[in-house]
Amino acid sequence: MAQVFSPAAVLGLKLLWLGILAALIAAAVVYRVNARTDAPAFAAIEQPVPFSHKHHVGDDGIDCRYCHVSVETSAFAGIPPLATCMSCHSQLFNDAPVLKPLVDAYRTGAALSWTRVHDLPDFVYFDHSIHVNKGVGCSTCHGPVDVMPLTWRVASLDMQWCLDCHRAPEKYLRPADRIFDTRWEPPADQIARGNALKRSYHIRTERHLTMCSTCHR
Ligand code: HEC
Ligand code: HEC
Ligand code: HEC
Ligand code: HEC
Ligand code: HEC
Repeated sequence: MAQVFSPAAVLGLKLLWLGILAALIAAAVVYRVNARTDAPAFAAIEQPVPFSHKHHVGDDGIDCRYCHVSVETSAFAGIPPLATCMSCHSQLFNDAPVLKPLVDAYRTGAALSWTRVHDLPDFVYFDHSIHVNKGVGCSTCHGPVDVMPLTWRVASLDMQWCLDCHRAPEKYLRPADRIFDTRWEPPADQIARGNALKRSYHIRTERHLTMCSTCHR
């Protein structure tokens, strides 16, 4: 039977197919790299009043604990009551349109319902005070809130995220006087310092921290 394609043509076709395959792989790689660098982390959450951590924390330097009063003492960090806002805004910009929902709610005694940025499922137990008192700073989990005009989430909050730290907290621990510092960065010798902090904070074993009942109780 006569050959339909000459050996040279077959080789040419094979090379063409390989070329197309290589181009597809390259395109996929380029797409993934771009997707990773361009992807916004998590979207900023719209709120009834556009509260800005950038202005209040970044520009005005108000401490986290002024508003999140229970973060060092309880599971819940605390969301400030309107009276906390009004301690300044009863005089400051109280006639500004953006503050109208706040001022109206305060006058009528209604609640202002903030939309949650972080919300773990009910079957997960989380406690702020233990983390904050044992060397885990706010920005490790919440990022630099001092640059956020509206608050957004920086961490996935999935189980792997919790476990990554519970298996090796030395990667993240910081001195007690830097917990509220939104700009803290781990130093070059973080692992050595982190291990020393692990001893001074009396951090329990990896076995304890990764037990199911630690977070599911
Ligand atoms: C002047 C008051 C005020 C100060 C100071 C303040 N916050 Fe907030 N924070 C709020 C209010 C109001 C909300 C609810 C609206 C929102 O999510 O932006 C909030 C929300 C948050 C949330 C998201 C809560 C959720 O719904 O999951 C985080 C995280 C947070 N603050 C961290 C911080 C940290 C860290 C600091 C200090 C560096 C800080 N805040 C300082 C008032 C404040
Ligand atoms: C310690 C005083 C103080 C407290 C407490 C305070 N604010 Fe403000 N707020 C300011 C100042 C100062 C500005 C002007 C912003 C700026 O340019 O730094 C401002 C501005 C604002 C604005 C205008 C938009 C903006 O960010 O410029 C909104 C909205 C606002 N605050 C909401 C709130 C809410 C909601 C609370 C309570 C959770 C609150 N503030 C608590 C001092 C305060
Ligand atoms: C180990 C990680 C971690 C650290 C450290 C941490 N947070 Fe959170 N934060 C979370 C998680 C997870 C949630 C969601 C909790 C939920 O849905 O039950 C949360 C929720 C919040 C909320 C919403 C109210 C609440 O308690 O659910 C505020 C406000 C907040 N954090 C502020 C802070 C501040 C201020 C600091 C530092 C003093 C801080 N957080 C440190 C992980 C952390
Ligand atoms: C960046 C590090 C880090 C992250 C992220 C983190 N944790 Fe922790 N967690 C710690 C450290 C450190 C302790 C204190 C351990 C100790 O006291 O021995 C702790 C303690 C706890 C405890 C108390 C354990 C006990 O037996 O008293 C619970 C519950 C907990 N974490 C839940 C969570 C959950 C749920 C998440 C994820 C949503 C999370 N943690 C994310 C570092 C972290
Ligand atoms: C350090 C805290 C922590 C520990 C320890 C932990 N979990 Fe979780 N687990 C979480 C969090 C946070 C979630 C919620 C994740 C989410 O919403 O995606 C979760 C979710 C789950 C889910 C639901 C999964 C899903 O896709 O909805 C199961 C099942 C689960 N965990 C089982 C376990 C078992 C079994 C262990 C012990 C081997 C364990 N967990 C240990 C934090 C923890």
